[in-house]
Amino acid sequence: MRPLLFAANWKMQVTPGETRRFAEQFLGATAPVDGRSLWFFPSAVSMASAADAFGGRADIQIGAQDVHWEPKGAFTGATSIPLARGAGASGALVGHSERRHVFGETDVETGRKVRALLDAGLTAFLCVGEKLEEREAGETEAVVLRQLRAGLAGVAAEGMRRVVVAYEPVWAIGTGRNATAEDAARVHAALRAELSNLGATDRVPVLYGGSVNLGNARGLLAQPEIDGVLVGGASLDPDGWAEIVGIGG
Ligand code: PGA
Repeated sequence: MRPLLFAANWKMQVTPGETRRFAEQFLGATAPVDGRSLWFFPSAVSMASAADAFGGRADIQIGAQDVHWEPKGAFTGATSIPLARGAGASGALVGHSERRHVFGETDVETGRKVRALLDAGLTAFLCVGEKLEEREAGETEAVVLRQLRAGLAGVAAEGMRRVVVAYEPVWAIGTGRNATAEDAARVHAALRAELSNLGATDRVPVLYGGSVNLGNARGLLAQPEIDGVLVGGASLDPDGWAEIVGIGG
């Protein structure tokens, strides 16, 4: 089995208490598998509980859903990288479509966040994806490659080793619609080609996300270009999520 990465994005839900109960059930239903990495992205409020509850399992890492690029300061409501690290995070999502399109995060800001994470020795999960109108206008590749270049501006080959890219078409997130495995694989191939233009020497994992569930995950992961999945809704049930990660061995 090739290495696969399964990432759970819990968004604005799952309290610290619920996190502990989830972990108990999920840990009981899964065992570590060689080559399979599991990441959980709880809300900042539940990060320390997650780190604590999953802490005994070397195959599981915790990440923040967003970070600020400044290490500290007067940024009410934001989470700095030292705060996230202190709560047990070893990485973070950057540029999730909800950050970009609900909160107005720009390409330039995603680049700052990625560089700050890599400088701090953490893993950056850079999310890219086109909106429906962009897809219909035939701009999918142009949009995701622009987001990729901006997100990775100034990142050297060494830093690329701690980058994960997630392709999440905006129209597929939380909608029950998703790209066909072949469509997604084509975009992944374009991202991969650009990653090597940008100086990545090792394989950068490229995940797919957007309405992934037990029914479609196997087909997506059968594509050699797809190195894993970033999952919202279907990661909220411990048994269901255990079944999906079970595809990885
Ligand atoms: P979804 O969310 O699986 O609920 O579509 C994915 C994501 O936003 O990362």
